[in-house]
Amino acid sequence: MQVISSLSSLRERLTRESGIALVPTMGNLHEGHLALVKLARQHGRCVAVSIFVNPLQFGPSEDFASYPRTFDADCAKLDEAGTDVVFAPTADEMYPVPQQVAVEPPPIAGELCGAHRPGHFRGVATVVLKLLNMVQPQVAVFGKKDYQQLHIVRAMARQLNVPVEIVAGETMRAADGLALSSRNGYLTSQERAEAARLQRNLQRLAQEIRSGSRDFKTMEAEAAADLAAHGWRVDYVAVRAQETLAAATSEDTQLVVLAAAYLGKTRLIDNVEIWL
Ligand code: PAJ
Repeated sequence: MQVISSLSSLRERLTRESGIALVPTMGNLHEGHLALVKLARQHGRCVAVSIFVNPLQFGPSEDFASYPRTFDADCAKLDEAGTDVVFAPTADEMYPVPQQVAVEPPPIAGELCGAHRPGHFRGVATVVLKLLNMVQPQVAVFGKKDYQQLHIVRAMARQLNVPVEIVAGETMRAADGLALSSRNGYLTSQERAEAARLQRNLQRLAQEIRSGSRDFKTMEAEAAADLAAHGWRVDYVAVRAQETLAAATSEDTQLVVLAAAYLGKTRLIDNVEIWL
């Protein structure tokens, strides 16, 4: 495994490669990330993983400064998982001049998480396009855990004709159902015990829909109220169409329930797909 931080070395290393599969990450890697690396291996001859905590996608009061940085442990895990190239650019390498050109994400980027994190998906889309242009992979792998991010990256690749196939990986979870996330490390032990309620509530809501209920607004409000009653600060619980992320209608047969909520200072997100 080769660890590369400069764009010129990256280009030199990758010129000979065809069939590159890229997994973009912000590091602090867990089994969810490593599952994406395994999936990348099935789609490419050369697996590249980027590690870059992207300042552009964090709001001024968010956790950019405190985001966990565990580079050596990450490299050990990636080596073990069979990664060929780790690309870990410095902020100067990624943003040598102020980034005045950006990707304007589609309007859905202003809803759900985007309604609570202004500019977040603009920052994500911009860094992902830069990474795709730097690495020039044939395939890029993203997790369904960040469902709206996956949707926006797909829309960007399609609408800007980026020559890459976007592949989605399933969400990896702890035994109690909590989606693995670098931010789970912020939880106190009490909060960690409570955290699985998010997935449980989304599963319950999904089951009501599978049983025929179509009063989406009431179900969303009930799930949010139950979280609030257990000490969560809820950003949203929403039933959407998988394909467009538009509000669900009773005609939709492919739905996804998405939620974001704070437990103490930690913001957790999760989702459940439903096929009717
Ligand atoms: P990060 O949060 O490090 O996540 C990197 C990738 O891992 C994303 O595609 C995310 O959806 C996926 N992932 C996270 N938790 C997962 C889990 N439990 N199961 C499966 N996949 C999971 O997402 C980002 O970084 C950034 O926004 C990035 C795309 C790198 C742009 O900066």
